Amino acid sequence: MTYQNYSLAQLQHIDAAHHLHPFTDHRDLRDAGARMITRAEGPFIYDSEGNEILDGMAGLWCVNVGYGRDELAEAAYRQMKELPYYNSFFRCSTPTPVLLSQRLAEIAPANVNQVFYGSSGSESNDTALRLVRHFWALQGRPEKNRIISRKTAYHGSTIAGASLGGMQGMHDQLYGAVPNIVHVMQPYAYELALPGESDHDFGLRAAKAVEDAILEAGADNVAAFIGEPVMGAGGVRIPPASYWPEIQRICRKHDVLLMLDEVITGYGRTGAWFAAQTFGLEPDTITTAKALTSGYQPLSALLVGDRIAATLVEKGGEFYHGYTYSGHPVACAVALANLDIIEKEGLIERVRTDTGPYFATALQERIAGHPLVGEVRAIGLMGAIEIVRDKATKARFEPAGDAAVVVRDHAIANGMMLRATGDTMIMSPPLIWTRATIDMACERILKALDLAHADLAKRGA
Ligand SMILES: Cc1ncc(COP(=O)(O)O)c(C=O)c1O
Repeated sequence: MTYQNYSLAQLQHIDAAHHLHPFTDHRDLRDAGARMITRAEGPFIYDSEGNEILDGMAGLWCVNVGYGRDELAEAAYRQMKELPYYNSFFRCSTPTPVLLSQRLAEIAPANVNQVFYGSSGSESNDTALRLVRHFWALQGRPEKNRIISRKTAYHGSTIAGASLGGMQGMHDQLYGAVPNIVHVMQPYAYELALPGESDHDFGLRAAKAVEDAILEAGADNVAAFIGEPVMGAGGVRIPPASYWPEIQRICRKHDVLLMLDEVITGYGRTGAWFAAQTFGLEPDTITTAKALTSGYQPLSALLVGDRIAATLVEKGGEFYHGYTYSGHPVACAVALANLDIIEKEGLIERVRTDTGPYFATALQERIAGHPLVGEVRAIGLMGAIEIVRDKATKARFEPAGDAAVVVRDHAIANGMMLRATGDTMIMSPPLIWTRATIDMACERILKALDLAHADLAKRGA
């Protein structure tokens, strides 16, 4: 029996009886019932009731080449028929992870040439954490193991991922975080810049928070700094231009490794293969996942810089770490086909020179003036809309996060998938969006904002 034989109510009933969803208030979901997404094509997703929704989030920041790509289905099918699985343990390999690794080394920053695979961004951040601490131990400096991260960072949901991340709610439920990880202020000018402080100065101040943490711990005790080039789940927080060069300078000065989490920004989102290239960085590790396969298969790749890789190879002996699905042949075949599409269709160039700038201007000219909007920001095809009660004072609605959910619900009801995080609407559309798709999105967002504005006014919020 296929799902078509079930009504929406039946599926919701079974869902409630047996399925625990990620990042969900389970009682709330059981009361509301889940929306069933049943198919997708190009930039659109469709629910079980036939509603067409423009996907402003590329699934969950991942479907960069859009939906319905036969090439990816065929690559998976061919690989499954030939060799559905074999592992990369015990001096074995399979061809697709080998060729994918070469391809990733070609597109990564010049100092990054080795790859370690997992199935998710969280897993790859676990690998990254283990690897940087192991690197310093192999250098005879095991005490150099502290990691500096940022508040509201998102680095995944395993115990290491949540510990590296700076989400307070997640920390509260950890009941024992990975030790020796500290969190400093994030480069979020909209809320954290001082009155009259320029973007440039704010960026330097936010970077100085990292240096202060290094000095407080003593550089001899600090292994690495980890950051998303643009904080994603925290609210598409785009740092001022002064921030990343200063972070790189500080890391080099104190011999602290630079770990970038590009699970969202990797594979074209900011108009370059990696945001490391957008910001001119030479990281020691780059965590990637999601758009590596455009979400068609679960796959993550930790890209490892030469300094760490050389030490691991020369001095490491066996590294006791790996996953059953490290270098999964089917996932890697799909990744290769996905990178081909991105390249052949010139999607990154398009984001950098056409749709990215058009998206930024559209948000600025059409959305920013709405009475509910405090600020819009964009980089490449990643954007944020701050929802406020008062534009001038930046005062938010009470309770926190409620107004953004009202906007989101109106957006979805009007055919536009947006995500609300705190009081920020975030967007990360497929890279296949055209100017016409951006125009369509703006119309639907404006309609949602108008409806939400009327609702919130009625509530006297
Ligand atoms: C920056 C970042 N790192 C890590 C992760 C975790 O990836 P996954 O959900 O595949 O474990 C995410 C997921 O959204 C992310 O945005």
